[in-house]
Amino acid sequence: MNFSKNFLEIKAALEKAGLFFIVHDDIIACMSTKLIIANWKMNPKSAKTAREIVASINKQSKNFGDVRLIVCPPFIFLDEVSNIISLSKKIFLGAQDVFVGQGVSHTGEIGIDQLKSAGVKYILVGHSERRALFDNDEIVKAKMLGSIKSGFKTILCVGEKERNEHGDHYHEVKRQIEDAIMKLPKKFVGNLIIAYEPIWAIGRPENEAIKPDQLREITIFIKRLLSDIFGAKEMEKVKILYGGSVTKNNFKEIIEKGNVDGILVGRESLKVKNFVELIEGIE
Ligand code: PGA
Repeated sequence: MNFSKNFLEIKAALEKAGLFFIVHDDIIACMSTKLIIANWKMNPKSAKTAREIVASINKQSKNFGDVRLIVCPPFIFLDEVSNIISLSKKIFLGAQDVFVGQGVSHTGEIGIDQLKSAGVKYILVGHSERRALFDNDEIVKAKMLGSIKSGFKTILCVGEKERNEHGDHYHEVKRQIEDAIMKLPKKFVGNLIIAYEPIWAIGRPENEAIKPDQLREITIFIKRLLSDIFGAKEMEKVKILYGGSVTKNNFKEIIEKGNVDGILVGRESLKVKNFVELIEGIE
């Protein structure tokens, strides 16, 4: 991996932010299978359209390379999606959220056992759109621990609101990650996935997605942080994803130059033609 030139730039940026540390090439783990998360948010409007979208992707999935696609529909369509992908080795079911409190008197919520019985394998926690409305750091931590301890692959979403010249985003991302995972026993680390989703890059035109160099810096930062918390060997088990205005036109640069293990895709994941082209483009 030709890393030295980028490394010096990254080192300079981190020093400026007062956050420099030693990074070894050998902790920049290369994990081959790429993860693609399709976050449907509150789409589509009908079960019929949900079925059509996932059936079309499923039909074309035999051409997919070394990728694993996780479709996260709204709860109401979990069954629709599950029925279509149940035999797939490439497509898995994800949930956009989970409730982890005790008991069953929680009107409107969906719990761990229900997600299990629906065939969910992955759970998103701490998406910025949920943090904005309902979930503070305490709740995100509880959801993360509850989900991962129940055997789900758990995607912890983190990301700063904005960036400034002081590099405050490093502190923000560090705090969000530490708050959620400090108490995570090492034996669960293999089920942890971190999705870095800067809020300023979500829901934007594709040219406003993160720049690969910026992503590479923060990826290294997150890996180093995980290495400090769990040790370098455990850190290698954690996949790091990027989300925010990924499209069929910018995903390649983001994945390859950004040094991430996959992407979390919102709007583009509902445009079947574009999305399939994107997935097929991942080697
Ligand atoms: P976007 O959404 O791809 O539409 O920007 C990403 C997300 O919010 O997860």
